[in-house]
Amino acid sequence: MRDLELAKQIIKNNWRDGFSVPTSKLYPFQWMWDSGFVALGTATYDVKMSMTEIGKLFSGQWENGMIPHILFHSENEHTYFPNFDFWNSQVNKGAPTNPKSSGITQPAVFGFILEDILKNHWENQEVKDFVKGIFPKVVNYHRFLYDYRDPNQEGLFFIYHPWESGRDNSPLWDESMKNIEILPGTIPPYERKDTALSNENQRPTQDKYDRYVYLLELGKKYKYEGKEIAEESPFLVQDNMMNAILIKSNDSLIQIAEDLGLDAGQVIEWQQLSKSNFDQKFWNEELGMYVGYDLRNEKQMLHKEIGGIVPLFASIPDQGKAKRINDYLQNLSSRGYYLCPSYDVDSPNFESMRYWRGPIWPQMNWMVHKGLLEYSFDETAGIVKDDLITLIHKLGFYEYFEAQKEVVETLQKGYGGNNFSWTASSYIHLNTNR
Ligand code: GLC
Repeated sequence: MRDLELAKQIIKNNWRDGFSVPTSKLYPFQWMWDSGFVALGTATYDVKMSMTEIGKLFSGQWENGMIPHILFHSENEHTYFPNFDFWNSQVNKGAPTNPKSSGITQPAVFGFILEDILKNHWENQEVKDFVKGIFPKVVNYHRFLYDYRDPNQEGLFFIYHPWESGRDNSPLWDESMKNIEILPGTIPPYERKDTALSNENQRPTQDKYDRYVYLLELGKKYKYEGKEIAEESPFLVQDNMMNAILIKSNDSLIQIAEDLGLDAGQVIEWQQLSKSNFDQKFWNEELGMYVGYDLRNEKQMLHKEIGGIVPLFASIPDQGKAKRINDYLQNLSSRGYYLCPSYDVDSPNFESMRYWRGPIWPQMNWMVHKGLLEYSFDETAGIVKDDLITLIHKLGFYEYFEAQKEVVETLQKGYGGNNFSWTASSYIHLNTNR
């Protein structure tokens, strides 16, 4: 259990003034879904930390309901680009001035995280009061997604920047990104910081970064909320994983409302629409998996990747579809891969070391593990959990990991940032028998 203590120590070292940073140099601020996963882990031994962290995140919620993907609690950190000044979230009058923030969001994890915390602290009145207080804010956040990001009222919201998806550099986004033309003067000058802090061959390439900046500028132009974004953005995607997580969190909000006597009427309405359209629009029979939808070009995005597995976690597929997803994972495991690679290992786009183009991410394994258990695929769920634990024991608490077993044999460490908060918290949660 020495590693459990080490994991807690990592979170402690990454703890700032009431929140955790993902890792100290590469990501020195508060990230939205990272914070959620850290709160899950800390709740197993210090639930006050979890409440503080979540409270701090919601202090950055915008008047329109959006929760930004980064809160810049400190304006004196200069190791990250784009920093608060580049985002200039103040173009939106409903954005708090303190903390300053980015102008885009990340996966809607807070519903299911609050449900987990509440379930495990049912006897604790302070936790119940906390959840009651934060519940309407989470509903408001979901309302933002339905109101501002779902122009056709399908119950499926869009993202307009790969960073919103949490899977920033996945090959999923390549096609839309290619459609963005960068001419001299199209974007303002900027200087990257990430490549000075992490191996360049594990980070996104320069032409990608220009396009990230382009989409950021597009959002800024329309105050990060205008309907012109949907009309104009070359990148407009209904992401399967983002929508699956929203559905999971809706379910959790409905459950929390029942447990605590709150009103979830509107969530129930959203949920009906979301669930039926998700299955119709995102399932791809040939691939045997859920895929995203390119709303700009009106077509499914035909990739096998980790996001297509997450609908298990939201109890979306029927047993037949779930079995196909389970078979996919079983097959990968029997072919010498640790589970779950973030991208299709058989595709020419697979890159085993590069950010979201192949490696394994801890918080993804956490969700997939839970999803498999929902469908009683206990054996695969066990592999997903054990593989992550094996990788952490062998390679350390890194941001992401090599998936090919024979390559892992040759390695001494993981990829990306070290002493990573959600790696530590996923490890703690998976080891704490909940
Ligand atoms: C990267 C990941 C994103 C995460 C952030 C902080 O940008 O792609 O999912 O939230 O790092 O860990």
